[in-house]
Amino acid sequence: MQLFSVPRRGYIWLQTFTVLLVLCKSGVFAGNATKACKLASDNISEKKVLERLEPLANNVFKANVTEGKDSYTYVFQLCGDAGGVQNAGVIQVNNNDKKKTVIGLYNTTQAIGGSDWVMLIYGGGEKYDSHCNGEKRRAIIMISCNKNIVMGQLEVILEDRDRANDCFYLFELDSSAVCPAVQSHLSAGSIILIIIFCLVAVYLIGGFLFQRLIVGAKGMEQFPNYAFWVEVGNLTADGCDFVCRSKNREDSPAYRGVSTEPAEEEPEERDDHLLPM
Ligand SMILES: *[C@@H]1O[C@H](CO)[C@@H](O)[C@H](O)[C@H]1NC(C)=O
Repeated sequence: MQLFSVPRRGYIWLQTFTVLLVLCKSGVFAGNATKACKLASDNISEKKVLERLEPLANNVFKANVTEGKDSYTYVFQLCGDAGGVQNAGVIQVNNNDKKKTVIGLYNTTQAIGGSDWVMLIYGGGEKYDSHCNGEKRRAIIMISCNKNIVMGQLEVILEDRDRANDCFYLFELDSSAVCPAVQSHLSAGSIILIIIFCLVAVYLIGGFLFQRLIVGAKGMEQFPNYAFWVEVGNLTADGCDFVCRSKNREDSPAYRGVSTEPAEEEPEERDDHLLPM
């Protein structure tokens, strides 16, 4: 039984160790959910803008609008099938007859960004019947920086369709994802400290695992280089003793001189007399 259980435990320890190493690297690996969005023009700056929106991916945003006796629900999903409609980034659902109208497709994306905002444009929606010369619907989602919320509420600002062309549905959303990156305040010194801390942690845990699993040590012996550190501890204590400790009270004549209480000295003298007996 012991033979089988040891490698299994070793495996678990190894996993813990790996997780710790990854944490120490502190690299937050960016996902790539926004890759599903197909940019109309395949340029790098637009890709960068899209990547800023990564925290919003796989999230469904909804907004309700009532127009007279009709009420609509708009569904927006970043680079994902909104309302389950393939390639649709924004759809409009008529709450009376549940009819879905595609406003914009995420395979026809445009992404424009400034320091604290991103404008996402989904083209290729369902054609207008009578308005806008029957052109395709288009959704513009304005995402603005708000440090306090990761994902705000989707809001419908307007549907601009009373024009000859370039009509659009305008939406608004607040998110901390588009806020300017906070400058790292870590100085070189603190980075070195963090690295040292990580190295010490890796040393302690790695050494502990080695002692425990390979050498088979128990108790305090599991500490890496136990004998060495005990020696270091003793030497340090000796050094501190030498440097920090004041002279023994009994040896100090000055101290005795200060003491004027006769009651303190008397018991000592009595003790001396008692000793030979
Ligand atoms: C985008 O998706 C729609 C609907 O699935 C499709 O008809 C169209 O060809 C696609 N466009 C591109 C550029 O892939």
